[in-house]
Amino acid sequence: LTSELYPSVKRNPNYKKLANEDIQFFQSILTENEILQANDKEDLAFYNEDWMRKYRGQSKIVLKPKSVEKISQILKYCNEQKIAVVPQGGNTGLVGGSVPVFDEVVLSVSNLNEIRNFDPVSGILKCDAGVILENADNFLAEHGYIFPLDLGAKGSCHVGGVVACNAGGLRLLRYGSLHGSVLGLEVVLPNGDILNSMHSLRKDNTGYDLKQLFIGSEGTIGIITGVSILTPPRPKAFNVSFLAVNSYEDVQKVFVKAKKELLEILSAFEFMDDKSQQLTKHHLAGVPHPFEESYPFYILIETSGSNKDHDDEKLEKFLESAMEDGLVVDGVVAQDETELRNLWQWRELIPESSQCQGGVYKYDVSLPLKHLYSLVEAANARLSEAALLGDAPKPVIQAVGYGHVGDGNLHLNVAVREYNKQVEKALEPFVYEFVSSKNGSISAEHGLGFQKKNYIGYTKNPQEIKMIKDLKTHFDPNGILNPYKYI
Ligand code: FAD
Ligand code: MLT
Ligand code: ZN
Repeated sequence: LTSELYPSVKRNPNYKKLANEDIQFFQSILTENEILQANDKEDLAFYNEDWMRKYRGQSKIVLKPKSVEKISQILKYCNEQKIAVVPQGGNTGLVGGSVPVFDEVVLSVSNLNEIRNFDPVSGILKCDAGVILENADNFLAEHGYIFPLDLGAKGSCHVGGVVACNAGGLRLLRYGSLHGSVLGLEVVLPNGDILNSMHSLRKDNTGYDLKQLFIGSEGTIGIITGVSILTPPRPKAFNVSFLAVNSYEDVQKVFVKAKKELLEILSAFEFMDDKSQQLTKHHLAGVPHPFEESYPFYILIETSGSNKDHDDEKLEKFLESAMEDGLVVDGVVAQDETELRNLWQWRELIPESSQCQGGVYKYDVSLPLKHLYSLVEAANARLSEAALLGDAPKPVIQAVGYGHVGDGNLHLNVAVREYNKQVEKALEPFVYEFVSSKNGSISAEHGLGFQKKNYIGYTKNPQEIKMIKDLKTHFDPNGILNPYKYI
């Protein structure tokens, strides 16, 4: 079996090709509703293709077990038979990690979707891995709590999926990384053993912190089936302001000022360049942008706290002074919930706007703040030199920059009319070399997946890579989980 999408990657012949006896085994433990097989009516495209429509596998079978025990039986069998398996959550990952490369079995955890327990005193939530993030957050809202992570894919991605990717999202600035808020995990290991580590302790220094290994492991060493997470009280008051600034220098200055002056109520600080807004305007044809005029950069600031009057006053003072200083040249503040959502959409819909023109090359990097935007300028210069950027028939529509300034995380998106090897060659390894030269990370939050597995060396040194490989071999000696990816 070969893939026309990935001519240089060969199917590993050590993996068994599914035979009738394997399907019979799956049928012996799963009900009809828990197995999808490719046939005349069902092509399994949803499970084989990723959100960006960039990566496509050829799996003929999707298993959707309804219990942890069934996952354990499936993995034990696949491990013995050397059948490769791709764990899948909401399939919103952005590095090609969630879909098969060849004929791997897709194991979706979407049928494990129950809230297990919530303690309203500590704020600790225990739930199945397949609970959709937005559902978890809506459940918490009823109890006055909030999920400590928010991102544009919340309506589809799973709690287990975000943990498997160690997703960052829009409020990491406030609530920190999942490495801090996840208190415990339940994981089915490749040999079928169930690791029950669903702790609910904030402090526990008895031995290695095993759960940390699985946070960000992208389905390569175990399938996460349960998550125990500390959730904070839900803020009563939210404010969002959308600001225009003249330079990236000024974005940094406003960030420093916002940290100092908004301090404990600052919950998001996002930036967008003008090109990203042009793409989003095009996508949202007819929806008015917060500003009639265009400016080089925009900032979205969210505050959240417990007292609206207090927060309003603080934000107003901050904005007045930022305008007096000449840092902010224009600004709007949402007056109600609808306006708040409208302002957020100009940030949250950038990914969709850059993807839907035909395709998108995405780079999600950490860089020292002073160098953050220079990558977008360098990428644009490179695409221009290569005569790839411009009006049709040139393949590149726009190279845009936006991201989580508060976390030193830039998203460089290159929107294309269709996926094109010439564009890819111009950008890779160019982008990774650039990031490495500034001591950044080639993956701030989306992970390695299939896209970056050959590039990990731009961020990790040989000793670190060896240790990661040793850990993979320790947990998954037959390499059945999510092959061809990560490392
Ligand atoms: P999937 O896409 O199904 O899987 C992702 C990876 O995790 C795969 O390698 C898969 O094998 C593995 N996996 C999934 N579930 C499990 C499990 N239960 N056990 C073991 N492995 C598993 N990311 C950010 O960090 N910040 C953002 O702001 C952000 N915004 C986004 C906005 C949009 C519109 C989209 C489409 C994506 C965004 N992402 C963001 C990407 C982010 O990685 C995913 O949305 C999310 O983390 C993946 O969750 P999922 O359930 O869809 O997992
Ligand atoms: C975001 O911050 O919007 C996400 O990480 C998704 C993306 O960049 O596409
Ligand atoms: Zn992001």
